Amino acid sequence: MSLNLGRTSFGNPANTGNVLTREATEELFNSWVLNPKLKTHMQQVAWLMKCWADEKVNLDEAGQWKWEMAGLLHDADWDQWPDLHCKKIIEELEQRNIDPEIIRAIASHGHLHFGVEPVTQMDKMLYAFDELSGLIHAYSLMRPGGYEGMEIKGIKKRLKEKSFAANVSREDINDACERAGIQLDDLLAFIIPRQAGISSRVL
Ligand SMILES: [Fe+2]
Ligand SMILES: [Fe+2]
Repeated sequence: MSLNLGRTSFGNPANTGNVLTREATEELFNSWVLNPKLKTHMQQVAWLMKCWADEKVNLDEAGQWKWEMAGLLHDADWDQWPDLHCKKIIEELEQRNIDPEIIRAIASHGHLHFGVEPVTQMDKMLYAFDELSGLIHAYSLMRPGGYEGMEIKGIKKRLKEKSFAANVSREDINDACERAGIQLDDLLAFIIPRQAGISSRVL
């Protein structure tokens, strides 16, 4: 079954700047997402988005929250309505008059499935973090020390093994890095220490 959204325009430009509060986002997150592993994934991606918006794009708190909110809700419908991923969360956010930038980023986080190209910086980083975050987390769970002492070369070695995170396409990883205009090594170097921090906070 196809998850193609059949459209490339989302939300209403008049809603630019409209966000959910953190409380409202958490309420939606907790009522829609029941699987603890999926929650962890979404929280990790959200934290990486916030850190990138802060450290690399130099956005203020309101700008950082938009990136974080996109990360926190990008898979909100995957748990209970996988056949409607990510149509359902998009429609929910459109009904709530949320900033189109956030909705667009969510709609383009899997362009091969949803048929929406990542265009903005927020789109591209959500796509890249989505690809890499879970992979790095899977690697941490295989290591006795978790994130402690994790090295880029260790992850790259695992990536060459077909059996490791077999459901993550290596082509998609390369595609995501290329689109974001960032070397894989640089992205891994950004993600590892930051994800290590959030993992000890949320797990
Ligand atoms: Fe997804
Ligand atoms: Fe995801």
